[in-house]
Amino acid sequence: MTKLKHILVVMMVMIIITSCKDNDAYVKATYFTMDSNGELVRPVDYRTWIYVGTPLTPNDMNNGKAAFPEFHNVYIDPMSYKHYKKTGVWREGTILIKELVSVGGKSAASGSGYFMGDFIGLEATIKSKEHFPDEPGNWAYFSFTNPTEGTLAATGKPFKTAQCNSCHNTSAADDFVFTQHYPVLRAAKNVGEEVTPENTAKR
Ligand code: HEC
Repeated sequence: MTKLKHILVVMMVMIIITSCKDNDAYVKATYFTMDSNGELVRPVDYRTWIYVGTPLTPNDMNNGKAAFPEFHNVYIDPMSYKHYKKTGVWREGTILIKELVSVGGKSAASGSGYFMGDFIGLEATIKSKEHFPDEPGNWAYFSFTNPTEGTLAATGKPFKTAQCNSCHNTSAADDFVFTQHYPVLRAAKNVGEEVTPENTAKR
């Protein structure tokens, strides 16, 4: 083998090893834990993750009985966000958190509207072929809310498919996730791993 060929082969092997390591990092970085009963341990520190948006369907715009009348602060784990920027798809091990916040006041110095009240609940969805090979899209849905006691449970059982997945399956824009309601994710899809969308001047 000539010296040049030798150098080229070594470079190619190095590139392959580096890209495998990269993919490994995505696969191995997990932000959730399942316990021995198949329940999701309540995730912590998610307010340090990537915040993606706050949808609200208030009761008084839904005949007084909205299915989900509170604010939903939605967060995604940082590794899945990075992977989504790079590939535009949700990786194995994605977790999104939905923190429920009540509607508090309806007026402020700036005018009438909906203003956040108190933290009242916590839900999550994870994409895991490992734990949920038979769920549509491998997504499973959980709640930690204990409304009577005003506390959060330590673990959450996966809901039955029809209770949560079907709505996400039929109406969510991007593989069960309602990206159409999250501007942060719309701006991030496929932009490239190293791009930071919020730093661009475009509005
Ligand atoms: C009636 C349709 C519907 C049903 C049923 C439903 N969801 Fe959702 N879900 C939505 C919509 C719409 C959004 C995005 C806007 C919002 O948060 O209100 C959403 C967002 C979410 C999110 C944030 C991440 C994402 O996928 O966008 C989680 C977590 C979530 N839902 C959990 C649940 C759980 C747990 C259940 C079952 C108890 C459930 N959902 C049932 C419509 C539904």
